[in-house]
Amino acid sequence: MQPAIVAHRGASAHRAEHTLAAYELAVEQGADGLECDIRLSKDGHIVCVHDRTLTRTSNGRGTVSALTLDQLKTYDYGHQGEPAELLVLDTLLDLVKGTKVELFVETKHPVRYRNEVERKLAQALKRHGLRDQIIMMSFSATAVKAFRDQAPKIRTVLLLDRLLPRVKTGKLPPYADYTGPGVHLLRDDPGYVDRSRHHGHDTYVWTVDDQQDVELCRDLGVRFLATNAPANTRRLLGDN
Ligand code: G3P
Ligand code: CA
Repeated sequence: MQPAIVAHRGASAHRAEHTLAAYELAVEQGADGLECDIRLSKDGHIVCVHDRTLTRTSNGRGTVSALTLDQLKTYDYGHQGEPAELLVLDTLLDLVKGTKVELFVETKHPVRYRNEVERKLAQALKRHGLRDQIIMMSFSATAVKAFRDQAPKIRTVLLLDRLLPRVKTGKLPPYADYTGPGVHLLRDDPGYVDRSRHHGHDTYVWTVDDQQDVELCRDLGVRFLATNAPANTRRLLGDN
């Protein structure tokens, strides 16, 4: 089976990342899934921003977690002359509701929040009545466990940027369903996908835009492939 295509930060090669326009374009391009990063505002709202600060992705300054939702909303998150509003998770949940598109939500972690973002994510999903379409992800095993404790029926990915000895075998802790290596790890150790499968874990790989990487993932039988350019990646996979 071909890997499912997950639009990383939306169709972020062609629209400003984490904007509604980027996600709408991804859906138009036939992405099977959407990926987003979430943080909490100072007053506890879930916003879709990758970095700890606003500098790279908006015309604002400051730390996301030190600003209220109203303050965060005063900035422009667009680029290349196309303005865009701050995206809040509720909007993205409304976008996927009633569709077949899966949503991969990665929680990011100011330490002082002590898993509050995972708790709030679980609450938001409950409020929206979403379960089977959602996959929670984190590089932090503690965060994945904290989420699993709150939402035991929602699938999870443990993201990996290194294959340390405890995960290199392909075995994951019981609260992680899928393994989430960066594609650079598979270039060095393609056998990791099979070892994970042997332990019952399918693989989600990020971020896969180049032809060689796309073909590597397809040949290894990767299940989910996160890409910034969903239409092009679909073409590289040989799908129409
Ligand atoms: O999909 C996982 C990937 O997004 C992790 O890296 O830095 O893009 O959040 P990052
Ligand atoms: Ca991410």
